[in-house]
Amino acid sequence: DDDILSEVIDEHDVLSILPLRPSDAHKGSFGKVMVVAGSTEFIGAASLVCQSAARAGAGLVTLAARQSLHPVFAAKLVETTHLPLPETAHGEFASEAAEVALARLVKYDAAAIGPGLGQSPDTVEFVHQLLSGISENTGLVLDADALNALSLTPDWWDIFNHPAVLTPHTGEFARLSGLSIGEILANRMEICRKNAALWGKVVILKGAHTVVASPDGRIAVSPSANPGLASGGTGDVLTGIITGLLAQGLDEFDAARAGVYIHAMAGESVRNNIGDTGMIASDLLIQIPRAVKSIK
Ligand code: APR
Ligand code: MG
Repeated sequence: DDDILSEVIDEHDVLSILPLRPSDAHKGSFGKVMVVAGSTEFIGAASLVCQSAARAGAGLVTLAARQSLHPVFAAKLVETTHLPLPETAHGEFASEAAEVALARLVKYDAAAIGPGLGQSPDTVEFVHQLLSGISENTGLVLDADALNALSLTPDWWDIFNHPAVLTPHTGEFARLSGLSIGEILANRMEICRKNAALWGKVVILKGAHTVVASPDGRIAVSPSANPGLASGGTGDVLTGIITGLLAQGLDEFDAARAGVYIHAMAGESVRNNIGDTGMIASDLLIQIPRAVKSIK
């Protein structure tokens, strides 16, 4: 209906949001991103977030991950710097891991927390410690297992009141809200808007025609429905893009809606090139700067 159409994000909206790139810039101009992600089972998730943040224009990206994973990440991510976090003999986060990450985080503009972290009790504890110590000055994107960790605390939004962008898919949204998947799918825009206000967060409800809602009631909808994006890892790319934009100084709602649009346009480029069967998340990476270029 008209209401939905008026909320669809277009190129003009995004052009007015995107950060300028002064020609005398240095890497500090474009902000520093810390990514807290990955585990033995989900190595690729962390890689995709780091690369996407860099492709969205962040000046520096650092990956904080369990120290035993460092050799793999170091070999795979040549532009990223690394903060190996202490772990136990069983490969879990050690109790001081959050402290180590927080001590470094004060030098960063934005952080992405969650993709592929896993859901073991030690990881949940690590996420809770991290979130309770993080500064209000750090732009924050919470995805995947960070959302799953939050969901374990009743009324989590009363305790965790730092501004953030949350990027749940429908299942993660169901866990965060206590609603059923059916209830969410029946009324995505209104449910997203209502919970953004309740939680005091910018909330991105992902899927075909992704919805973005701000706690102040503003709403934005992605123009894109693209089955090519329904494959593992494309959500990690969205998380990286939004964090990269936050690091460049955009506020949460602007970073979220511009990020959703750029991610969607990158997906459209890949679909135009190879079709929607067999697209993989890595295909999106080089299309991120191209999408930005075509908007500018
Ligand atoms: N049209 C447009 N966009 C879509 C579509 C579609 N039909 N389907 C998916 N997308 C987009 C979403 O909007 C989102 O940006 O692709 C991305 C998918 O993100 P996630 O659902 O978070 O998927 P991802 O994390 O990459 O991989 C799935 O997450 O929760 C786990 O168990 C799940 O292991 C699985 C993994
Ligand atoms: Mg995901």
